[in-house]
Amino acid sequence: MGNCVTAQVRHVSGASQGSRTLAGSGRGQKGNVGDNGEREDLVPAVALTQQFVPHAFTYADLKQATRNFRPDTLLGEGGFGSVFKGNIDERTFQPARVGQGMLVAVKKLNKDSLQGDKEWLAELKYLGALRHPNVVKLFGYCCEGDHRLLVYEFFPRGSLENHLFGRSGHTLPWNTRLKIAVDAAKGLTFLHNAKIPVIYRDFKSSNILLDSEFNAKLSDFGLAKDGPTGDKTHVTTQVLGTYGYAAPEYVATGKLTPKSDVYGFGVVLLEILTGKRAVDKARNGGEINLVEWATPYLIDKRKWSRVLDQRLDGQYSFKGAHIAANVSLQCLCSDPKLRPTMQDVLESLQPLVDPKASASARSSSKSKGKSPYNTPNRDRKDINVSKQGHEVDADAKPTIAFKLPSPTHDASKLQKQDPSVCPSPTASPLRMK
Ligand SMILES: Nc1ncnc2c1ncn2[C@@H]1O[C@H](COP(=O)(O)OP(=O)(O)OP(=O)(O)O)[C@@H](O)[C@H]1O
Ligand SMILES: [Mg+2]
Repeated sequence: MGNCVTAQVRHVSGASQGSRTLAGSGRGQKGNVGDNGEREDLVPAVALTQQFVPHAFTYADLKQATRNFRPDTLLGEGGFGSVFKGNIDERTFQPARVGQGMLVAVKKLNKDSLQGDKEWLAELKYLGALRHPNVVKLFGYCCEGDHRLLVYEFFPRGSLENHLFGRSGHTLPWNTRLKIAVDAAKGLTFLHNAKIPVIYRDFKSSNILLDSEFNAKLSDFGLAKDGPTGDKTHVTTQVLGTYGYAAPEYVATGKLTPKSDVYGFGVVLLEILTGKRAVDKARNGGEINLVEWATPYLIDKRKWSRVLDQRLDGQYSFKGAHIAANVSLQCLCSDPKLRPTMQDVLESLQPLVDPKASASARSSSKSKGKSPYNTPNRDRKDINVSKQGHEVDADAKPTIAFKLPSPTHDASKLQKQDPSVCPSPTASPLRMK
């Protein structure tokens, strides 16, 4: 199978670009040399020589595990393909019967997805090598003929997107929202602090997956990219990502830095605070783009709280909500240099969910093994199951307000978002939610 992966890379390096292009930057023309000037056919060696070698599944095994990809095992669909729920034996990784073994999510690449091969390989490269409590676990892959699949741990509560904007009628409690933001910040901090920094490039609420206790993990590393090292300030790439989340300077120039992820984090934090999607064509003209709508409120000391999700009904401490709103505003700063690092963000947000943790935020972001923070103790009998087979919390509990320190960053330093460099939500139909 290792040979299969290497052979696949050679094929991918000549592939044309497809569905995830945000804007034609004129860069990143595909040949044998990648965006960074690296030979892309050397890349997968990273995944295959690491400690966690992903299991090579056969297509027949995954077909059996998902009951022939039966429609009632479908968890969701994205730009890459469809995601199915399956059962495999946790020890042998052989397909198991319903109710036996462990649940897994099987992502199946659409055969007509031009960009898909490359993303499949990037997922394998990064998820095969990275392990962190806030990064999704990859169990294995399948590369057989033109079948490309990936097998991940299963997240019973689905994505943050489902919970914030789903049709369940349930409102995600404030404390849970903050905890999810902190978990996601830990995941990004881990990536950015890696020896060779990893830029995630596709930070959005549908890529934040939730386990039964609302621990959040980053999924979808198909667009991830090695970040700049040494004297380099950025890497230049073809512009890929999702409208509404991609940093404006990256869309304009193709120059990618860890601060591009910080911008995406700011957008998701804003979604968490407002309960509104990053881009929603159903909203009125000036409100289609969440950042453009919210920024004038966020920079106004008297009006910032108007953006808060009214469904929260005062569950939050005003001070805590203000800190979170400021963090979001800082992350959305149009000048990437003025944005905080993800480490800064984590240190600002973590005390909101765990006041004792502020001092240890720096060290915990680099911790290995078990998650160092507490998770809410939830009663399993209150769990409902959504259409996609995901659990939905039926028990929205009010939050506890903590005494909070001042924000690390001064919002007054922030510049107003310049809409002229913001991606137009209608510029291209690609990767629109
Ligand atoms: N490991 C998983 N466990 C449970 N559900 C999952 C898992 N991975 C994905 N899903 C579900 O499948 C849906 C589709 O996921 P996918 O990553 O293919 O697309 P997306 O993130 O929605 O969009 P895009 O392709 O633009 O990134 C997710 O929104 C989620 O509901
Ligand atoms: Mg996804």
